[in-house]
Amino acid sequence: MTEQSIPMIDLFAGCGGMTSGFVAAEGYQPVMAVEWDLHAAATYAANFGEDHMRWADIATIPNDEVPPADLIIGGPPCQGFSALGAQDVHDPRNKLWQEYIRFVRHAAPKVFVIENVDRFLASGEFALLESEARPGGLLEEYVLTVALLLAADFGVPQRRKRAIVIGSRIGEIPVPAPTHARSGDLPRWHSVRDVLTGLPEHPTRTTLPLSRVEVFGTEVPGRFKSEDLHIGRNPTPLSLRRYRAVPPGGGRFDLPYELMPRCWQEKKTGTTDVMGRMRWDEPSLTIRTEFYKPEKGRYLHPQWEPGDDGHRVDRPITHLEAARLQTFDDTFEWCGTKIQVAKQIGNAVPPMLAKALAQHIKPYLTGVESTRSRCALCPE
Ligand SMILES: C[S@@+](CC[C@H](N)C(=O)[O-])C[C@H]1O[C@@H](n2cnc3c(N)ncnc32)[C@H](O)[C@@H]1O
Repeated sequence: MTEQSIPMIDLFAGCGGMTSGFVAAEGYQPVMAVEWDLHAAATYAANFGEDHMRWADIATIPNDEVPPADLIIGGPPCQGFSALGAQDVHDPRNKLWQEYIRFVRHAAPKVFVIENVDRFLASGEFALLESEARPGGLLEEYVLTVALLLAADFGVPQRRKRAIVIGSRIGEIPVPAPTHARSGDLPRWHSVRDVLTGLPEHPTRTTLPLSRVEVFGTEVPGRFKSEDLHIGRNPTPLSLRRYRAVPPGGGRFDLPYELMPRCWQEKKTGTTDVMGRMRWDEPSLTIRTEFYKPEKGRYLHPQWEPGDDGHRVDRPITHLEAARLQTFDDTFEWCGTKIQVAKQIGNAVPPMLAKALAQHIKPYLTGVESTRSRCALCPE
């Protein structure tokens, strides 16, 4: 650790999307990360080192093994239980939040940053957190700043809305200001085109390479480079006919009746994004863990032209394309099966959003004004 670096703990670290952004912002030094999913922990270890990754259930890590740190990042998965549940301290669903608070109490960070799904702010978990930050609560030293941020406003080519809570015991830290916008004076939102252009339209492989790597004394599939992640699927002729029928921005409602699955034939209303096709010149919608299934969201490749001879790419995005839409650098390495890697990608905090948060918070932690580095996706 360098003299000036900020020691940091990442809880529920996943593959390390959030750590990736903080490390890229420079000046932060991970001293512990906790993740119980073997393959996600392995991906984290491949990129940031095995020495400080604790592959374990957070509840099994004793207090005396929690290192001191100036910053804790990461948020427990939110189950969105009712606000009523939060009043019951014995509610088992509080457990992960109590673990998070236990780490804050023992590491005594100056600041903690929680990222979570947008519905978190209406959940019992959030009510619990807020109540602990009131006088007499376990987090009473901390002032909370709460915001709903749109990843596209921070340079991510994706309309991913996330709840961010910044807890600080060194004075209130305001919400970071957007660096990009749909229109106006700031640089424009990045689009799908900015990150997908140039990738082969027709991936030649449908599986990951067969390599395995040893991590935590056990073997896992990996380490895969970004180009290994450009893998296609084997859609049925019926699926292909469905994909062909959907133009950019369209979805299940563009399917002719005879191509609709029975459940859609019977349900004329409902989610419009399923079987959706992206638009080249807009950010994507949220990339979730099953982005390889077009029936689950707007995941079809944006290339589509009308007419019989139209140039179409009739497939969902590949793992590499999803990783790019999440702003993972092409140098990031991955461990796990196809399904596990997809889960890691979809669960991650986009590194570019995390980097914006890291740059925003750094001056409060160091007392030194930081200069914002240039956006990796914006032209020089
Ligand atoms: C939303 S993901 C975190 C994503 C991560 N912040 C990133 O940017 O890549 C939440 C993670 O919490 C992990 N998790 C859930 N319960 C856990 C527990 N009891 N102990 C440790 N990790 C846990 C899950 O395996 C999952 O990877």
